Amino acid sequence: TFLTMTVQAQFSYDLQGHRGSRGLMPENTIPAMIKALDLGVTTLELDLAVTKDGEIILSHEPYMNPAICFTPNGEEILPTDKSHNIYQMTYAEVIQFDCGTKFHAGFPKQVKFFATKPKLSDMIDVVEKYVTDMGLPLPNYNIEIKCMPEGDGVYHPNPEDFSEMVIALLSKKLKPERFNIQSFDFRVLQYIHQHHPGITLAMLVENAVNPEEQLRVLGFQPQIYSPFFPALNKETVQKLQQKGMKVIPWTVNNKEQMEKLLDMGVDGIITDYPNLAPVR
Ligand code: G3P
Ligand code: CA
Repeated sequence: TFLTMTVQAQFSYDLQGHRGSRGLMPENTIPAMIKALDLGVTTLELDLAVTKDGEIILSHEPYMNPAICFTPNGEEILPTDKSHNIYQMTYAEVIQFDCGTKFHAGFPKQVKFFATKPKLSDMIDVVEKYVTDMGLPLPNYNIEIKCMPEGDGVYHPNPEDFSEMVIALLSKKLKPERFNIQSFDFRVLQYIHQHHPGITLAMLVENAVNPEEQLRVLGFQPQIYSPFFPALNKETVQKLQQKGMKVIPWTVNNKEQMEKLLDMGVDGIITDYPNLAPVR
């Protein structure tokens, strides 16, 4: 028999696997999380939705996304069809859908296999057991709550209830320093800031053009500022860090771009390709 050992890269910055490792595995699945851990990420990034029977699951959309899922019969979902609304489905119904075998042109290197949307609690259990068994460092979790009205007719839970459900589950499973909640929806951030001041919050924004104004609108200073990366520059990074915030941009999928951002002094990087992350 052969004994194999993976020598893990060590990162001095917060390397976050986006949707686990979306570039390499079907997004927001347990295998995507395990792959990210094998590559040495310090944080797992993921998105949540809630089923009709109250299960919190990993999903970027609140419906079965035609770009990544097949129906239980193995058929294509029409590109405009958002009728498979997760909030109106039981978890038993959700796991009839295969969200792992469909080819995604944006992520051609994704390994393809049957995969279903996991429960958040199951994913955490598997990850915690895996890192313990493998002797890996304990990862952190960057948990996104999305409930912005999208105007698409699908039901979204209200920010307060969704936040409470997620916090109740996380608090049972993890020490508070092991997770943060991120959102584009300022209502989510404001609610948690007010009712759960001990929880670390990351503010998601579409650009880093005017952080002062974004912070003014939010109404308080979160621990983490997470912008889409292109407009970020060194001055902005330094200004925000001087105020006491961490700067962790998304979603950086190119090695040169990662190097540039690390040179600017960002605290972390969110990427679909943790395998491309520079070791520093
Ligand atoms: O963590 C930030 C990033 O995940 C935001 O974009 O659409 O992939 O959730 P999205
Ligand atoms: Ca996300």
